[in-house]
Amino acid sequence: MSLDGAELTWLGHASFVLKTPGDKYIVFDPWLEGNPKCPKEFFNWDKADYILVTHGHFDHMGSAALLAKKTGAPVISNFEIATYLETQGVGKTVGMNKGGTVEFGDIKMTMVYADHSSGITTNSGLLYGGEASGFVVTLENGLCVYHAGDTNVFGDMVLIKNLYRPDVALLPIGGHFTMSPKEAAYAVGLLEPKVVIPMHYGTFDALTGSPDALKDLLADSPTVLTVLEPGEQYC
Ligand code: NI
Ligand code: MN
Repeated sequence: MSLDGAELTWLGHASFVLKTPGDKYIVFDPWLEGNPKCPKEFFNWDKADYILVTHGHFDHMGSAALLAKKTGAPVISNFEIATYLETQGVGKTVGMNKGGTVEFGDIKMTMVYADHSSGITTNSGLLYGGEASGFVVTLENGLCVYHAGDTNVFGDMVLIKNLYRPDVALLPIGGHFTMSPKEAAYAVGLLEPKVVIPMHYGTFDALTGSPDALKDLLADSPTVLTVLEPGEQYC
């Protein structure tokens, strides 16, 4: 499947850059320097029009404040994380919650459910970070991308399918903190995307789920499994 003018680049772990057909850069869960899977050439990445943060864990927003300050892009996240990032000097935020959609021109971003936690680690301890989320993003060309964030599989993925019909699903498969391939394969059955791209595996020793295991489980699925290398672009 072609992304019809869009370009999706995996920066390792849960970080992705989605360049839209209208040349906007949407960055999901930026964690660049310090991310063991982020290629060095992306450590100083400085292109973003919108920064989406699914939850407060460091491996999803470790580079969000820096990237926001560099680019002036708004950070779109839950209310608690948006408020926290403002205290960290981020100028523009959009705090929202699940079921809400923000529109920027012909681009729509909807916050959806995730089954996970969202505490923010700070020097003075753990802060409440609201609830974890995923994002469904629909581009100018109608392409619909679902970034699941960190999550277990949940039955209401059927609602995400029915409401938004995601073409591309970015799903965590590493296990331990999220779905492993077993749950992710079930999620693919609920979501029925055209393409699934695995993420959030291999970064730490605990994240043992592998794309090969997912491949075996999806042998009879019409969904195409596309495995990217960190730094690789899909278009
Ligand atoms: Ni997490
Ligand atoms: Mn994570």
